[in-house]
Amino acid sequence: MKLAVIEGDGIGKEVIPAAVEVLDALCLDIEKVPFELGYGKWEKTGAAITDKDVRILKECDCVLFGAVTTPPDPDYKSVLLTIRKELDVYANIRPIKPLVGIKGLTGMTNFDFVIVRENTEGMYSGIEELHDDVSYTKRVITRKGSKRIAEYACKLAKQRQNRITIVHKSNVLRSDKLFLDTCRDVADFEGVTHNDMLVDSMAYSLITSPQKYDVVVTTNLFGDILSDMSAALVGSLGLAPSANIGEKYAFFEPVHGSAPDIAGKGIANPIAAILCVKMMMEWCEDTKSALIVEDAVNHVIKRGIMTPDIGGRSSTRDVGHAVAEYIRMRQ
Ligand code: NAI
Ligand code: MG
Repeated sequence: MKLAVIEGDGIGKEVIPAAVEVLDALCLDIEKVPFELGYGKWEKTGAAITDKDVRILKECDCVLFGAVTTPPDPDYKSVLLTIRKELDVYANIRPIKPLVGIKGLTGMTNFDFVIVRENTEGMYSGIEELHDDVSYTKRVITRKGSKRIAEYACKLAKQRQNRITIVHKSNVLRSDKLFLDTCRDVADFEGVTHNDMLVDSMAYSLITSPQKYDVVVTTNLFGDILSDMSAALVGSLGLAPSANIGEKYAFFEPVHGSAPDIAGKGIANPIAAILCVKMMMEWCEDTKSALIVEDAVNHVIKRGIMTPDIGGRSSTRDVGHAVAEYIRMRQ
């Protein structure tokens, strides 16, 4: 397998090396292709991503990505939106599950749900018109886009509790009626139980009763916001991994950004990036390696080797080493 490794900017340069150390400890036959994209590249060359980069990325099977800082450039075209669209990784999968021994914002640990976010359209269509006194962003909802994300959510639901919650705002956004109706039709066809929630009451419900949910399917912007919020249930943005999945490619990235406030201090939590390796193993159908990574993460947390965001005193590197060392010992 050929894997593009993109550290990106800020803490991406710290958490991805830790994740790569863990990947290396699994001793798999993976060819790594290091890649520079993002703010650092934009400063050097004037472009955060080029057509040539996209071509090389398409020669890889999947991507491990840290985070990029958004450059202060009015004409900047988002690196992430470009990659998600070019690789057509339409399903953004964000599992929200407690880690052994870590209590998040609410103290609850009885939840385990997955946010399935449509990743190529909605509010992030990239169709924008900017003027001095008025600006527009076109929100695009298509039957095709809604159908395939609903199908993905139903496929996942069948491996779990066979139920999905469709999150929308169709009482105000008329475009969401198409999303809601399409998701309902797909779920009925697939024999998956479904209910639906308006996004604002869903935000409240996810914090107060997260145990009620299993697979949550929603549009691009809502999924982005709800998943950052849900990371607080787990305990830190530094604990939340995600996978962007398409027909051909997959792209794994922590939910968090480049965190300039802590970049360079060596204290970023690498667990979200390390759990991206676990998701990559699941995508490769290497369940054994996926379980080893999860087990190693839980073992290291239990030993108290943790970064400050979750109450520890260890560095990014210490946590990465400890997870990799545990895996090496078990091989
Ligand atoms: P952020 O996710 O980078 O940081 C939000 C807060 O969470 C900060 O206080 C940060 O220190 C903390 N945090 C994030 N990851 C952490 C980790 N692994 N360990 C410990 N603490 C962690 O979001 P922010 O500050 O809004 O954005 C910073 C930059 O990142 C911006 O330029 C933004 O555009 C970009 N961004 C990039 C993303 C990506 O590449 N996927 C996603 C989100 C933001
Ligand atoms: Mg986000």
